Amino acid sequence: MNQDTLKQQVAQAALEYVPEGQIIGVGTGSTANFFIDGLAGMRERIRGAVASSDASARRLAGHGIRLFDLNEVEELPVYVDGADEIDASFAMIKGGGAALTREKIVSAVARRFVCIADASKKVEVLGRFPLPVEVIPLARAQVSRAIALLGGRPVWREGVVTDNGNVIIDVHDLRITEPLKLEESLNQIVGVVTSGLFAHRPADVLLLGTAEGVKRFER
Ligand code: 5RP
Repeated sequence: MNQDTLKQQVAQAALEYVPEGQIIGVGTGSTANFFIDGLAGMRERIRGAVASSDASARRLAGHGIRLFDLNEVEELPVYVDGADEIDASFAMIKGGGAALTREKIVSAVARRFVCIADASKKVEVLGRFPLPVEVIPLARAQVSRAIALLGGRPVWREGVVTDNGNVIIDVHDLRITEPLKLEESLNQIVGVVTSGLFAHRPADVLLLGTAEGVKRFER
């Protein structure tokens, strides 16, 4: 079974977590795209969605799903999104698609975070996937030096500008045994907008696509 089939299956399974008549939070990436396409089939049954990126907003709108600004919404019953890595405590690395900041903001407002991922994303220790960090452009070199002091190898994702007009630094060579602490340390660096480490807001539900079918885990 290829990775796309697994992504499609978890995206389909996530539709069960969408409550009727409500506004839901929607993530970004190829797995989230499968979810958005599935959501199209039930668009009459939801009020609409808050998107975590311009790309997801365009895809939702293309399916005729009404978009809401997060400022219009006090709480979301559910946020559905993929991940680049997820560990046993449901802490995640996200931001492979450079949408980490809006993903973190939208998921912070959600009662439940449903992570949809193929089996390759489940890891013992986070860090093999380079950790994305969104940075104010002016602060790129300074933030890179500070990240190197934390033990990572920062690499500027050249040519990429986020939806918020910032740049991405991918941090290689990390072995993240204390995700909560690292997230806090990164947040302390002046010029960092957000890190792609989701430890303080981990997933609540993990739908994992495996060759044996979709496995469900709850925190
Ligand atoms: C985008 C993300 C995505 O959720 C993450 O990169 C996973 O992407 P995909 O579903 O394409 O494997 O964080 O910023």
